[in-house]
Amino acid sequence: MIKDRLIVALDVPSLKEAEKLVKTLSPAVNIFKVGKELFTSAGPDVVKMIHAKKKKVFLDLKFHDIPNTVGSACEAAAKLGVFMLNVHVSGGRAMLYAAAQSVAKGSRGRKTKAPILLGVTVLTSMTEEDLKETGVKKKVQDQVRDLAKLAQNCGLDGVVASGQEIELIRKATSPSFIIVTPGVRPLWAAHGDQKRIVTPVQAMQKGAHFIVVGRPITQSTDPCKAARDILEEINRQ
Ligand code: C5P
Repeated sequence: MIKDRLIVALDVPSLKEAEKLVKTLSPAVNIFKVGKELFTSAGPDVVKMIHAKKKKVFLDLKFHDIPNTVGSACEAAAKLGVFMLNVHVSGGRAMLYAAAQSVAKGSRGRKTKAPILLGVTVLTSMTEEDLKETGVKKKVQDQVRDLAKLAQNCGLDGVVASGQEIELIRKATSPSFIIVTPGVRPLWAAHGDQKRIVTPVQAMQKGAHFIVVGRPITQSTDPCKAARDILEEINRQ
């Protein structure tokens, strides 16, 4: 179902505001992304609030640390029963193995499925120049492709990728490797600070399994209608 491929980013600072949005969007949206700002201010209560409303959580905390620490964090996230979570692929092979094993361990004995474990390749805010300064002398796209392959190799279920990277990752990985694409903009929405954008329809056509949409929905005067309009746009294709 198309509805199960739309993720709405809850980029708000408090539990109260998040709850208001989830309530408003409930008729149209099944998955909500909780990022660093909201989780840092509201903690696991925000995950529990979303679950209480029978909705799913993408816990977007992009873990990146030594394998033992990331493993423990992933196990804790799996125990919270989230639907999806992510780590930085640049944390390396041992960290990725620890993440994958710990997600499985944290999910043991739970009624819900194990969370989808995603990798973040190169942050879309980074240029080739930025990469070079961190010691990576590759083109951004080559680094994205190589990190996506490493993620798959280490047992991750997929990656977060911009609209520009979907096809390149699709070619380098197996069809079941999940691609989650943020920064998508319907033609009727303001672009905000997102520069290289694709529409929801284009993202799906290129091979994204899920799209993440924030402000075009959450800052709309009628968020539920905005979400429905996006779903309709996709359904028409
Ligand atoms: O409001 P907007 O639709 O731009 O929100 C997109 C969401 O996806 C935000 O939570 C943002 O942090 C996240 N994101 C992104 N671009 C990336 C990775 C994540 O916009 N490359």
